[in-house]
Amino acid sequence: MQRQTKKYIIEPNRPERNALPTLATVRPIGMDRSVVMKCQDNLAFMRPLASGSMQLIVTSPPYNLGKSYESRSSLADYVKDQAQVISECVRLLAPTGSLCWQVGNHVDGGEIFPLDMVLYPIFSEHGLRLRNRVIWHFEHGLHCSNRLSGRHETILWFTKGDEYVFNLDPIRVPSKYPGKKYYKGPKAGQLSCNPLGKNPGDVWIFPNVKFNHVEKTIHPCQFPIELVERLVLSLTKPGDAVFDPYMGVGTSVVAAVKNQRIGYGCDVEKEYVNIAWERVKAVRNGTLETRPMHKPVYDPKLPYGGHR
Ligand SMILES: C[S@@+](CC[C@H](N)C(=O)[O-])C[C@H]1O[C@@H](n2cnc3c(N)ncnc32)[C@H](O)[C@@H]1O
Repeated sequence: MQRQTKKYIIEPNRPERNALPTLATVRPIGMDRSVVMKCQDNLAFMRPLASGSMQLIVTSPPYNLGKSYESRSSLADYVKDQAQVISECVRLLAPTGSLCWQVGNHVDGGEIFPLDMVLYPIFSEHGLRLRNRVIWHFEHGLHCSNRLSGRHETILWFTKGDEYVFNLDPIRVPSKYPGKKYYKGPKAGQLSCNPLGKNPGDVWIFPNVKFNHVEKTIHPCQFPIELVERLVLSLTKPGDAVFDPYMGVGTSVVAAVKNQRIGYGCDVEKEYVNIAWERVKAVRNGTLETRPMHKPVYDPKLPYGGHR
């Protein structure tokens, strides 16, 4: 099948951000500094790579929305194209590995087609097992007048098998009642919650990367780094390979490198790939500004939005 390359609008550079304390501490890079990023079609990038070589494949493909920056195809052709890419990803996935496909809606004539529902059968036919359908909730986006405004997208987390890497501790979040204790029974007086915090659950609230976000580049739809970090930290170990077949400005690779993993990625737009290299360079020398994973979402009702 002839592939179509989607085109993205290049947004003008944003003005100076306001001065909230958003400079994140970036951990020093560990021993392995490897990064493989190319300006290349993803099928061409993947074909020479070894089967079973990727511990985590995490991506957000184009949604075939037919806006001015995309060339739109029929939903059927889009699904065929996705099937080819997913098939190569499954080949690359390690036996204990995870594949995370982050998608929103395809829209046609005012009707929405949630892409996780549309694409699920492809993953299922490959024998992948769905572990979570994570809802990513955010507050900003288009305001709809003839249906409710879309304020979530989903991440389908699949594993290749039943033996898979999953580390909860690095992604625990503060417990609601941290000092809570059993008040009766054999454990009376002991902590009833994990002192390291609680499971973050399958509804994730992270601001999407819009105009004022500290990580904003020219890319119109980049991942927040903190979202990918949650997946990197829980689904891989230091030194593992993390791959994004639609890497845009390289957020997944940055999240991998920031946490001592090896980052692989490709994108067809040279300008995005150049920015991805700049971001990798910045994360390596500790100058990349990121929104930290545990920073609360800005709340206008609180002094300083709850950030002090
Ligand atoms: C939704 S964006 C991903 C953004 C990315 N998550 C980030 O944080 O920057 C999808 C990207 O896929 C790229 N793309 C489209 N078709 C592609 C292909 N066949 N191979 C590689 N990249 C492609 C586009 O240029 C676009 O940057």
